[in-house]
Amino acid sequence: LRTILIGPPGAGKGTQAPKIRDEFCVCHLATGDMLREQVQKKTPLGIEAKKIMDAGGLVSDDIMVNMIKDQLENNTECKNGFVLDGFPRTVPQAQKLDGMLDRRGEKLNSVVQLLIDDNLLISRITGRLIHPGSGRTYHKTFNPPKKNMVDDVTGEPLIQRSDDNVETLRKRLATYHAQTGPVVDYYKNKGLWHGVDAAQSPSLVWDNLRSIFVGKD
Ligand code: AP5
Ligand code: ZN
Repeated sequence: LRTILIGPPGAGKGTQAPKIRDEFCVCHLATGDMLREQVQKKTPLGIEAKKIMDAGGLVSDDIMVNMIKDQLENNTECKNGFVLDGFPRTVPQAQKLDGMLDRRGEKLNSVVQLLIDDNLLISRITGRLIHPGSGRTYHKTFNPPKKNMVDDVTGEPLIQRSDDNVETLRKRLATYHAQTGPVVDYYKNKGLWHGVDAAQSPSLVWDNLRSIFVGKD
């Protein structure tokens, strides 16, 4: 399976992608998680990226394309396929991904857009908790951890992302509509697009996703 999840901040990409990874034995490549790892390690890229992420902007296409290229070439978990979460976010990123896949003799099976109204995203984003080590995601109300503020698997503390506030969310949404909207059209023109109602419960969203992927290898 080679697929892409597209959706605004809080749509559920990071909630659903690990289920796809586990069910279809593919790698889950989340560019936001990769950038947050760099931020945590305080690498030069991480220090630059943090400013951009906290302002709701986008890190440069070249950096992001190289991150994905490196994973597709070197991550053995990707040999059966992949689910991309947060990439491509611009038309140039989508074009470069196509070039990369062409050279590998591979094709995308599908592109799924998680459809949801902007006004439903505020509570999802402001209530989100994450486990920085794994990227596992919880929600204070909609998906609380078993024990207050700690990860179910490791028992380590959960944190809020520094870009998960109302002001930065507004900017992230504006960026999404301006830069990633055209990516949706790009894939519609290629006949790869599917839409899923992402305002439903996580388990219904998952049922809809599975029915798109079943039978695609
Ligand atoms: P990234 O990490 O990709 O952030 P995002 O796109 O804003 O998406 P989120 O992670 O906020 O949302 P999600 O869809 O994963 O939602 P989740 O499942 O967690 O990128 C961060 C930044 O990095 C960008 O702003 C940019 O600066 C930079 N960047 C990354 N990739 C880049 C690229 N390719 N090019 C350039 N820059 C790049 O769910 C949210 C919450 O809702 C959770 O608490 C969850 O529990 C809850 N929830 C999920 N589903 C449901 C449901 N069905 N019902 C109720 N609650 C739900
Ligand atoms: Zn995410």
